Amino acid sequence: MNILLIGSGAREHALAWKLAQSRQVDRIFAAPGNGGTARIPNCTNAPLPVDDLHALRLYALDKQIDLTVVGPELPLVSGIVDEFTAAGLTIFGPAKDAARLEGSKAFSKAFMNRHGIPTGRASVFTDFEAAADCVHDMDALPVLKASGLAAGKGVLLPASRAEAVDQLRAMMVHRRFGDAGETVLVEERLYGPELSVLAFCDGENLRLVPAAQDHKRLLDGDRGPNTGGMGAFAPSPLATDGILETIEHSVLRPTLAGMAAEGSPYQGVLYAGLMLTERGPMVLEFNCRFGDPEAQVILPLLQSDLVDLMLACANGNLAGQEPQWSNESAVTVVMASGGYPDTYETGKPISGLTAGLPLDDGPLVFHAGTKTDESGHRDDGESRPAVLTDGGRVLSVTAKGADFRAAVSKAYREVDRIRFEDAVWRTDIGADFFDS
Ligand code: AMP
Ligand code: GLY
Repeated sequence: MNILLIGSGAREHALAWKLAQSRQVDRIFAAPGNGGTARIPNCTNAPLPVDDLHALRLYALDKQIDLTVVGPELPLVSGIVDEFTAAGLTIFGPAKDAARLEGSKAFSKAFMNRHGIPTGRASVFTDFEAAADCVHDMDALPVLKASGLAAGKGVLLPASRAEAVDQLRAMMVHRRFGDAGETVLVEERLYGPELSVLAFCDGENLRLVPAAQDHKRLLDGDRGPNTGGMGAFAPSPLATDGILETIEHSVLRPTLAGMAAEGSPYQGVLYAGLMLTERGPMVLEFNCRFGDPEAQVILPLLQSDLVDLMLACANGNLAGQEPQWSNESAVTVVMASGGYPDTYETGKPISGLTAGLPLDDGPLVFHAGTKTDESGHRDDGESRPAVLTDGGRVLSVTAKGADFRAAVSKAYREVDRIRFEDAVWRTDIGADFFDS
């Protein structure tokens, strides 16, 4: 089989690594991929942007692609699944209507309310004055959410009513997030630990994956600015059998059934971002794809063939699949460029990367923002081209172990071997659970 994998982060490197283990796979084409996907044997990077659906479709037809796997949300929300399916191509992911669960927070909130799925109360506005009045009428501080896709930056937690009104003005009047902020949710603020629960879905059936937790803040102790994610671990000790059962029956099954009943059956991976509140698990958001960095800890725990699972989702026969999961713990530590999530420099040589494909029981260094040095110049005399930093998040260093302590020490031993100028990382990923 030939696979087309769309995206360029550590999530996509992890997907490529796992797909490459399938005996069914001959070649993988990563569009556009990164320095990590380029190092996987049988994987070729193709310089195509993830939002050029037309070019991607022509490329898939030309390369006789048997299965397309989409990493990021943008092409899904833009309708890549509809476009590929119409051309007779098999693709893993939700169709455009189903991807509204992530693409429109207004749709998603109304959907949850229609189907009794637990989530924070919210009002939806397209008028700035009305939204500002709502903030003044609330008993507590709200959460503000741009309804559309805003590259993970569209959720705001103002510290005062005045700040909330300023943020609403920035979104709705000054169009800080463009069209994505034309419609805004003013939502009740919830409190509790957060959990990411993902499930493979075929429109009717679902299979849960190990629950994960990510670390969104830049600095140790959950301080500093929010980032795309500085680390993650799975399975989360918070996700007891009872909690997972509640989430499956109060959130995931009603979502799948509701989407099917409304004529938009959901196929692909459904990601529920949840808060474990005093009122029970509540949905903060849905995503229509794997999480990043959650994928980097979930996929290494999967013992079954990922291609089989994805084909079953796309073809509506997940009922025949029982994915097997390792009972180990997995941890990933993100190494980022100094200055991230604001401004940072790129193009720094990375040393200490393992040469070949990682061994199954060794650490897995998934690349996020890296590229291969096309000039081929290296200082250390090796013949492989050097790998350079090429983004804010650079590497996602993953390890498995019998427990979190073992996984964490293996991951950090690997982090200590890797060097690039101004590298930053958190030193406390997974640490909360050492003594529990
Ligand atoms: P994002 O993944 O960018 O949508 O970020 C959403 C983040 O905002 C979540 O991970 C929570 O930390 C926070 N958040 C979203 N909705 C709420 C809410 N209703 N109450 C409290 N925090 C929230
Ligand atoms: N880890 C959060 C996300 O992928 O949206």
